[in-house]
Amino acid sequence: MSQDMLSLGMVNPQLLQFSDLHLSKDEQLMGINCDESFAAVKALAAQFHDIDLTLLTGDISQDNSETSYQKCCEVFRYQKHPVAWITGNHDDVSMQNELLCEGAITPTKRILFKHWQLLLLNSQIEGQVCGAIKNQELEFIASAAAEYPKHHIMLVMHHHPVAMESAWIDKHCLKNSDELWQVVGGIPQVKSVMFGHVHQEVDIVHNNVRVLGAPSTSVQFTPKQDEFSVDNLQPGFRHLELLANGTIKTRVYRVDADKFIPVFDPSGY
Ligand SMILES: [Fe+2]
Repeated sequence: MSQDMLSLGMVNPQLLQFSDLHLSKDEQLMGINCDESFAAVKALAAQFHDIDLTLLTGDISQDNSETSYQKCCEVFRYQKHPVAWITGNHDDVSMQNELLCEGAITPTKRILFKHWQLLLLNSQIEGQVCGAIKNQELEFIASAAAEYPKHHIMLVMHHHPVAMESAWIDKHCLKNSDELWQVVGGIPQVKSVMFGHVHQEVDIVHNNVRVLGAPSTSVQFTPKQDEFSVDNLQPGFRHLELLANGTIKTRVYRVDADKFIPVFDPSGY
């Protein structure tokens, strides 16, 4: 993990989370044009004018093509605020490092506000759909907390660290979540974990930590299904405000109408 830190300093920062863009050369994922759905979500998010940081929580690419990352770069490089990203199971981290570094887009994995620090973790196990946090990054959570003991911490990762009660996606979870929760249990500064990967809205409290998952900007997965299933809910994003007292105001927004309806494909994911 890069030790470089981006220090922003806002008191109550506002964030946007876009997740699981699944951009590709051919644009289609299970009948949804991911370029169009992402553009619709991005347009919806333009209602927020005072954003301090955008987070892209993995699966930016579906096909690991240069084109997919270039599309992402073109959308975000001219933002007026920093745009940080993490790696999903579908992503190629070396290509991300090479292509997601222009203009507003930053490869930094540590962001400091006045009262919060965000630690962006890589939960990818190369070649697998499931994930894990490496020891080095688990240790980094503890050292970051020790360095800024008064700051609340938000962990940002791609894979879900709690069960979704959905057998098929829980096979593809964060495999060492027990280890993560053991570490987090000793660090009371950790107030929230946010993630992507599950293509659905999640907002629960686990071990006194706010656990937040976001919809995809493309295809949605139906919650609490044991078999793979796609949802007709529309693509969306999450808006967050990190408050000085360690709590979070947040809401998911989805595009209107039923423009993006997926076609079920059992081999689709
Ligand atoms: Fe995904």
